[in-house]
Amino acid sequence: MIIREKVADCIQSMDSAMLSMPVDISRIVLMAGSRDASADELARFLSDHRPLSARIVKIANSPCFGRCGDIDSMSSAIIQTGFREIAAIALCSSIFTVLSSAGTCSNVEQDRIWKHDIGAGLSVNLVAKSAHAPIDGFSMLTGLLHDIGKIVFHLCLPDEYQEVLQCHQADPVSLHRVERELLGIDHGEAAYQLLTRWNFPDFVCMPVRYHHDLARCPFEYFRQAMILHLADYLALRAGIGYSGNINPEINAGVMATMGLSETRVDELTEQVEAMSLQADYFFEALKDGTKRDH
Ligand SMILES: [Fe+2]
Ligand SMILES: [Fe+2]
Repeated sequence: MIIREKVADCIQSMDSAMLSMPVDISRIVLMAGSRDASADELARFLSDHRPLSARIVKIANSPCFGRCGDIDSMSSAIIQTGFREIAAIALCSSIFTVLSSAGTCSNVEQDRIWKHDIGAGLSVNLVAKSAHAPIDGFSMLTGLLHDIGKIVFHLCLPDEYQEVLQCHQADPVSLHRVERELLGIDHGEAAYQLLTRWNFPDFVCMPVRYHHDLARCPFEYFRQAMILHLADYLALRAGIGYSGNINPEINAGVMATMGLSETRVDELTEQVEAMSLQADYFFEALKDGTKRDH
């Protein structure tokens, strides 16, 4: 069986892990992407799922969103943090639980990737602001989920992916290039396969798919993919978590398009470094809540 089919089969088998979850992820995806869903509807739905809603309120109430405990309900979390931001936390948290219970990937390995994802998720707004782009909770979600394709590889191709990581140690290129060379598919595409199967909208799936392949990104998703590309790079440089990539690359076109000097990239890196404790807090809240889900 070729690798691509093996990944597709494995992703299909993850549906059972998702279906056994107490929370219906596709309902949240649907509500988050719908123009008609109301804040009340989302608040009611999430409040019915106690461990998840407690985790969301904890994260919304934290320094991750510049707060220190003034939110006391899901409705107030949505009003003060934002509809899509809360949906993004709910989706990230639910997928964290699904993938943590889906297989054999070492917890340490997954944890490091999730911390890096959270670092990129928190950096996206900073980068969007710097690019004068609109800020949206779904932009944060692209960061929070951008490298879940690596977790898919760890779960679906444990031996093959160890070989990729070993070759990467000796190869002075970015990890996604070694994935493409040895597996014929990179982690952006693996994440895309998972997210489209779970009906995530294109404005989440496409930037994730193309965050290392900007040249092939369709025009309407290019700006978001570029912002994600830079947020990923900054989280790597800032050393938040560990994504397995020891040779991070920044696309020269991104620097030119966004008018970024090396000095500006250094400044942004420092600002992301300063978010390290927020990323730790977010991660611990996810992890703690997941223990209580089981
Ligand atoms: Fe990546
Ligand atoms: Fe990354």
